[in-house]
Amino acid sequence: MTSSIMQGARILSLGSAVPDLRLSNKDISKMVDTSDEWIVTRTGIKERRILTDANKSVVDLAVLASKKALNKISMDPKNIDLIILATSSPNDLFGSASQIQDRIGAKNAAAFDLTAACTGFVLAVITASQFIQNGSYSTILVIGADTLSKWTDWTDRSTCILFGDGAGAAIIQACSKENNGIIGFQINTDGRQSKDLSIGYQESTKADKSTWPSNNNGQFKYIQMNGKEVYKFAISKVPNSILSCINKLNIKIEEIDWIVLHQANQRILDTVAEKLNISSNKMITNLNRYGNTSAASIPLALSEAVELNQIMYNDFIAISGFGAGLTWGTIIIQWKC
Ligand code: ACO
Repeated sequence: MTSSIMQGARILSLGSAVPDLRLSNKDISKMVDTSDEWIVTRTGIKERRILTDANKSVVDLAVLASKKALNKISMDPKNIDLIILATSSPNDLFGSASQIQDRIGAKNAAAFDLTAACTGFVLAVITASQFIQNGSYSTILVIGADTLSKWTDWTDRSTCILFGDGAGAAIIQACSKENNGIIGFQINTDGRQSKDLSIGYQESTKADKSTWPSNNNGQFKYIQMNGKEVYKFAISKVPNSILSCINKLNIKIEEIDWIVLHQANQRILDTVAEKLNISSNKMITNLNRYGNTSAASIPLALSEAVELNQIMYNDFIAISGFGAGLTWGTIIIQWKC
């Protein structure tokens, strides 16, 4: 890959943000028929953060995470060329990235949204790396942010136990080819299973067809998920995605220092580690504290691991996202900071 690129791309800084309100399993067990024991055993989740302020949205979390990433390296936001917001819960269906551009003062940046649920951050990093490695841009802010609590049916115990809100931001910058840190990727989609995980739009049944076109007041439904199918999909596709990616790079699985998976369910993480025959010590996990934060989960986990100095210069990291679409994908990073 290095030979075909004009310049390298590496993650220079990360930041994250979560709402203050913690919703514990005990709290949820007062809302639906469940228990802390069931949730912890089946998912590993103990609590999640929920955005309750009706005046706040995914944009507020994304702005906070972005400012943290910028402040860490004292970067002037005017140096950002492009902002990619991976989200499935925008506060504007036309896109929310432009609000972030305005609020962080990145007036020279183009900005757009990318929708791919829990694979969103992986796809956004890959997109950003292409813009940089082909020489088009120097500095890109990639954000994974979601507030799926707004799309959760809080009476449905099979989904409301899983999701939390959050945001993670990464500043990706051009560097020499020798320092290239985003060294390989692989992405896939299987649309045949799109109904297994969706927030579908439903036309109103009360619409008056005689006055068409009219405002028919349709609306999006709550998250609908076939948990068992999504679970089977994740544990079968993710290990193969990682293996096919590292094989192309001639990297052995033993050489991978860290695995950062979309934080959906501890059992998925454990099964993937088992299938890859790698130590669970190499799996970065924080889902016990945040639940499944969709596009935010990978940058949240990565950001915390970097802050804890777990990740060292030149470490190989395999990052995999998976979710609605159904979509899945892997990026292989060599840490160059
Ligand atoms: N508390 C207690 N019992 C429950 C609960 C609950 N919260 N939820 C379901 N149950 C019951 C079911 O009703 C069922 O009871 P029954 O046997 O009497 O019918 C039983 O527990 C087993 O239910 P399953 O759905 O089979 O439970 P499972 O072990 O599959 O766990 C779970 C469910 C946690 C949702 C799991 O399937 C899962 O994690 N799936 C993957 C989800 C995922 O990874 N999503 C990622 C993408 S997210 C995105 O892209 C936005």
